Amino acid sequence: LGANNNSRGALVVFEGLDRSGKTSQCGRLLSYLEGLGHSVELWRFPDRTTSVGQMISSYLTNKSQLDDHTIHLLFSANRWEKRSMMETKLKAGTTLIVDRYSYSGVAFSSAKGLDFEWCKAPEVGLLAPDLVVYLDIPPEKAAERGGYGGERYEQLEFQRKVAQHYMLLKDSSSWEIVDACQALEDVEKQVKEMVLQHVRTCRKGKTLSYMWS
Ligand code: TMP
Repeated sequence: LGANNNSRGALVVFEGLDRSGKTSQCGRLLSYLEGLGHSVELWRFPDRTTSVGQMISSYLTNKSQLDDHTIHLLFSANRWEKRSMMETKLKAGTTLIVDRYSYSGVAFSSAKGLDFEWCKAPEVGLLAPDLVVYLDIPPEKAAERGGYGGERYEQLEFQRKVAQHYMLLKDSSSWEIVDACQALEDVEKQVKEMVLQHVRTCRKGKTLSYMWS
């Protein structure tokens, strides 16, 4: 299948506003790649299972209050605590589908008014995705989709700001913007095609790179 010594899994990140369809698409992609016989895992950030993740979860559900900088660094720490496992898996040939990553970290915190560069700094050195799939949806449309669940950031005004800050991050070559207002199946079809290409290049030995590249 074209595998060689440098063969590795692909790091595929999904980003987008709350209710843009990331979780559904990640699930469908996982089944698809598994069906093709690929070694693949679905991850998500925040990973609420760790002790840092529990602090984040309690903040998001309004059970605790934290300074904006503090919660930003916790989100970042939550990625750092998974970094070495991520590298091990990728190098062992497993493709990782990741529901949110550093881009959420920067877009959400800078939307609160924190300095953009300050927000990017703690992410430096994390593994860079091979592909970022941005599910693009107008904030108003996302809000209509079955409503928000009531977590801290699920408010229309705030999501508008998040969308603007995401757009400041998008210019890197690994981004693909997908119109998330389309039918689920149409989004799915586009996503599958772009992901397969990247899985193949990584299999052929594409070098792993680091944030922010
Ligand atoms: P989730 O709904 O995908 O579990 O994400 C929880 C919320 O946390 C969501 O509103 C986005 C936000 N978030 C950040 O503010 N910073 C981050 O680094 C991540 C990963 C998510």
